[in-house]
Amino acid sequence: TFRFARVHSISAIAKDTEKMDSVKQLIENLFGESLKLTVPDELDVVPIVTPCKDLRHGDYQCNNAMSLFAKVKDNMPEFRNPRAVGQAIENNLPASDMIERSSIAGPGYVNVVLSSKWMAKRIHNMLVDGIETWAPKLPVQRAIVDFSSPNIAKEMHVGHLRSTIIGDTLARMLEFSNVEVLRRNHVGDWGTQFGMLIEYLFEQYPNWEASASQDIGDLQKFYKDSKRRFDEDGDFKERAQRAVVSLQGGEEKYRKAWSQICEISRNEFERVYQRLGVVLEEKGESFYNPYITKVLELLSSKNLIVESEGARVIYVEGVERPLIVVKRDGGFNYASTDLAALWYRLNEEKAEWIIYVTDVGQREHFEMFFSAARLAGWLPGGDDKYPKVSHVGFGLVLGDDGKRFRTRSTEVVKLVDLLDEAKTRCKAALIERGKAVEWTTEELEKTAEAVGYGAVKYADLKNNRLTNYTFNFDQMLNDKGNTAVYLLYAHARICSIIRKSGKDIEELKKVGTLALDHPDERVLGLHLLQFSEVVNEACTNLLPNILCEYLYNLSEDYTRFYTNCQVVGSAEETSRLLLCEATAVVMRKCFHLLGITPVYKI
Ligand code: ARG
Repeated sequence: TFRFARVHSISAIAKDTEKMDSVKQLIENLFGESLKLTVPDELDVVPIVTPCKDLRHGDYQCNNAMSLFAKVKDNMPEFRNPRAVGQAIENNLPASDMIERSSIAGPGYVNVVLSSKWMAKRIHNMLVDGIETWAPKLPVQRAIVDFSSPNIAKEMHVGHLRSTIIGDTLARMLEFSNVEVLRRNHVGDWGTQFGMLIEYLFEQYPNWEASASQDIGDLQKFYKDSKRRFDEDGDFKERAQRAVVSLQGGEEKYRKAWSQICEISRNEFERVYQRLGVVLEEKGESFYNPYITKVLELLSSKNLIVESEGARVIYVEGVERPLIVVKRDGGFNYASTDLAALWYRLNEEKAEWIIYVTDVGQREHFEMFFSAARLAGWLPGGDDKYPKVSHVGFGLVLGDDGKRFRTRSTEVVKLVDLLDEAKTRCKAALIERGKAVEWTTEELEKTAEAVGYGAVKYADLKNNRLTNYTFNFDQMLNDKGNTAVYLLYAHARICSIIRKSGKDIEELKKVGTLALDHPDERVLGLHLLQFSEVVNEACTNLLPNILCEYLYNLSEDYTRFYTNCQVVGSAEETSRLLLCEATAVVMRKCFHLLGITPVYKI
């Protein structure tokens, strides 16, 4: 088995190096060649290529002519109008078997129609070589996604759920694009609240060393109780403040109590991650604490830190209030930790792209310490230069009443309960469809889980992340419309068509040919081919909803194809089964990138 594993990994590497350009990239390359011939003196002109909105005009279009005309009209009088530039661009297109024909439209758009034969061949190749050959190429080797990041002893709320879901998808898309991703859980495990927690632990649980984890059933209640004690009792408050000093000074007993409290929280978080199938590596705030002093000295040496009202602060352009990095009492805060963490990630971990996923409410914090890092010369200016930092903000989760989502009026939602409910509802729906008799118990459980958790994730991801979204079980579990349930069922139906054909797909891949002769086959084929550029776009702009939209449209294109083209028993059966399989493969990769487990029968 060892040998097999080795051979396997070598072939995976070999595939890696065969990464292909996306269709859009290939078209851009062709237009790039043409532009070099058309305007030889314009060295910095880049081809602007977009997919055509109306497929009657073509599949892709080049939009350079208009702006180029304005640029060159004085030096190149042979171009009398933008359309003439477009004409020249078209004439200079190198011959290519990927293009069927081209034309000029309006003021100078150059439309190209892809060769259906070329398209079909490319899809067939993907079926043989694997969807990995359609992975996007990104200009980075290593990225950090800082996501989820709940706070120890406080509740992990729906905001953290959003961060977990969005961050995981971004990490998956980057990983698929062959970027090495460090998935970081920046948990709030440091700070003054630990003084009161530790002191309360000593006071209420004299046996804490042996049995704290069994005795503290509900850590959030523990937090609330200790907070009440802190607010009400001056003596306790003083002891709690001394406890912080002892903890930060590294006193054994305090460190131990701290790590026990963290451990209880960690186990609770882990239950949510396991259900969601999310993997994270914890490097909490405490990890960076030893680096803060040195990093602040570094910033001081560049004269960035000044004194203000007893605190030490950094002023950045455009914001009146400065970024506090040392509090009046000499303690460090969220910002000092984030500066130290950024220094560590750039210099020790050598990350080229660092992505932070939190609610939009924290935008100013991120903008400010990013600016500080730029002032210090850690980051180059400009959006397309690396190393780069990005804040991925998201909106609120609302309840049906339009207010922040809560189960009962005062309590925050317990995430595990939420996921349980999604699963329970899915299971009930499946039982209603007779699946309890048809399937094994395990199949029923696994499907209910896949659909239920998938629905929660998809409902979150399908919206532009900056908008608030309403959490509604009935909507997200609807089997019609843009929901995970609908999409998972659509995929299962494709699988069942292939199964019921009785044909061996592996064999068809070897001996069959794929063709895209019917207009609805061609539309579906074009959509499949755009997978790579869509993932690229979703990744580059950090917008998972772009991938959701692609997936939903894919299933619509498939439905149209399936309605208008007979598959099983037709003269085109082989080709159409291959097209069904290609659709299923791309859908599955979309599900995978969205963190959704596909189901194969329904
Ligand atoms: N713990 C923070 C919160 O719950 C999120 C941390 C985000 N990451 C970071 N590097 N600041 O709001």
